[in-house]
Amino acid sequence: MKTLVIANWKMNPQTLAEAKKLLEGTKKAADKAKGVTVVIAPPAIFLHELRASYRGKKISFGIQNAHAESAGSYTGETSLTQAHAAGASWAIIGHAERRAMGETDLDVRKKVAVALALKMTPVLCIGEKTRGPSGEHLALVKEQLKAGLADVPAAKLSKIVIAYEPVWAIGATEAMKPHDMHEMAIFIRKTLFDIYGKPGMAAKILYGGSIDETNAPSMLREGDVQGLLVGRASADAARFTRLLSAVEKA
Ligand code: PGA
Repeated sequence: MKTLVIANWKMNPQTLAEAKKLLEGTKKAADKAKGVTVVIAPPAIFLHELRASYRGKKISFGIQNAHAESAGSYTGETSLTQAHAAGASWAIIGHAERRAMGETDLDVRKKVAVALALKMTPVLCIGEKTRGPSGEHLALVKEQLKAGLADVPAAKLSKIVIAYEPVWAIGATEAMKPHDMHEMAIFIRKTLFDIYGKPGMAAKILYGGSIDETNAPSMLREGDVQGLLVGRASADAARFTRLLSAVEKA
């Protein structure tokens, strides 16, 4: 199975010209990384143009966030329907930076369902803000999973990607330890099994939070994940090239 690497460019770069350059660099690296599936989630305002100018097969495009309603009076928002029409086949949903801006579990639940209805792949982001000594974070992760998947039938689990991103490891100096991710992957899978039975095993699990070329290989080997959600290291073509080649070797 190919390793999935999702490049979340966040609010980078500053201009369309720079975004095209970054795409060009990413394309070269992606074409070389045979065992890797690459998804780019650029800022929404660049999505259509990047998708339209991309000549290749290797990269798919995603939206970093979008509204569940297809159209209407939602100033400043982009709908999943619009993102899909602009070329996004993936949707990052419930990212910690969106949750910090007020996105609720109910919003996440609706978006996941709408993305699936549009035949987009939802990347459901979950993860705790902090960890206490008695494992309270596990209850929170379970709650986020249950809420986000509340409208998803068992048959659709194979179309879902779960991105576990502990908030304390996002934009940080160090990623989570692969061993700890392995434990979390087991917990996530057990939770999915409890809800869905065997079909729950079909969801892919990714890790995200301070991934770069130095820690990606061990995370993939020992973290029990099928891929990575990458922020900062994806917004720089040279760094992302090193990362993809490290992933390819792993
Ligand atoms: P980071 O972000 O790689 O810059 O830590 C990861 C994410 O937020 O998806």
